[in-house]
Amino acid sequence: MTELEKLQASCFLEIGGCDNLKKLDALKNSIFGKGGKIVELMKELRNLNNEQKRKLGSEINLLKSGILGKLNSKFHELEMKELEQKLLSEFVDVALPPRPEHCGKIHPLTKVEEEVVDILSSYGFVFADGPDIEGEHLNFTALNMPNHHPARTMHDTFYVHRPADDNGRKLLRTHTSPVQIRAMLAHKPPLRVFSIGRVYRSDYDATHTPMFSQIEGLIVEKNVGFSHLKWILADFLKKFFEVKDLKMRFRPSFFPFTEPSAEVDINYKVEGGKIIFGEGEEWLEICGCGIVHPVVLGHGKVDAGRYQGLAFGFGLERLASLKYGIPDLRGYFEADERWIDTFGFSHAIR
Ligand code: PHE
Repeated sequence: MTELEKLQASCFLEIGGCDNLKKLDALKNSIFGKGGKIVELMKELRNLNNEQKRKLGSEINLLKSGILGKLNSKFHELEMKELEQKLLSEFVDVALPPRPEHCGKIHPLTKVEEEVVDILSSYGFVFADGPDIEGEHLNFTALNMPNHHPARTMHDTFYVHRPADDNGRKLLRTHTSPVQIRAMLAHKPPLRVFSIGRVYRSDYDATHTPMFSQIEGLIVEKNVGFSHLKWILADFLKKFFEVKDLKMRFRPSFFPFTEPSAEVDINYKVEGGKIIFGEGEEWLEICGCGIVHPVVLGHGKVDAGRYQGLAFGFGLERLASLKYGIPDLRGYFEADERWIDTFGFSHAIR
């Protein structure tokens, strides 16, 4: 075996025994790098005559390309191996159940929203939407609260710096009722819609926050009256609170956009610090409702001689607090992880 053949054999042996890319890189350097085996070999050329130089030169070139070929295929082999190992170690089994310590919780408002939407949909209500930044016309005037109507001051309104348009000055809607008008203008009756969303009033204490959420229902049909409203609300509340014998009390009230108007109370008692609905003689206010005022139907381009409107509105946080025993309203909006840990719902029971 010539010297060159020996060198080639030892290089091949070393390359073949290499088991990772780092080692292979170092090996390549020791062969081809500065002071490497090939460079040492080239030095020998200096002492040879032309004829010998040409011969050894071409032999060295052959050796170089042989070793390089072997190196490259080893590089490829090790790269594939490392990739495979990486893929195996980073494998994620998406079918595994989530680890509770890394799992977020469902906000009570989301939970209650889903429950409410489920029940309302079962009566044929469909979702209707409106913007948070509303015009004075839809938020107040079209709801039978003309300029300087005292009821406007009942809602401490946030006005926003945006140019007024046909819909009047811009404000953050103080209730979801403007969606009533939007829905009537967008669709001809018969109509059965609900809307859910944020509303804003300048108020802040344990039972009031500047932003909260409302759900509003509107029916515009022929031959409907207070008895239908009563049935829907009774059925809704029994289903929502999961109490068959829940009692309801309608108290006369006032909203400019409904006539007659009522507030609905449900019965409860407190036992062992817990509130139990459907038992006892205490009453808790839960929603506002009424027969839509003909003026409001008119603003919605509905013929008040042929159609009647029924409307009701709930505070979503109030529903959630009562059903799930959440004490302070402010917790809903403080983004405190401890709060959501305590009052949030796990994904499993959704
Ligand atoms: N919009 C009323 C409020 O915010 C609630 C309501 C809605 C009352 C629909 C009657 C009918 O107080």
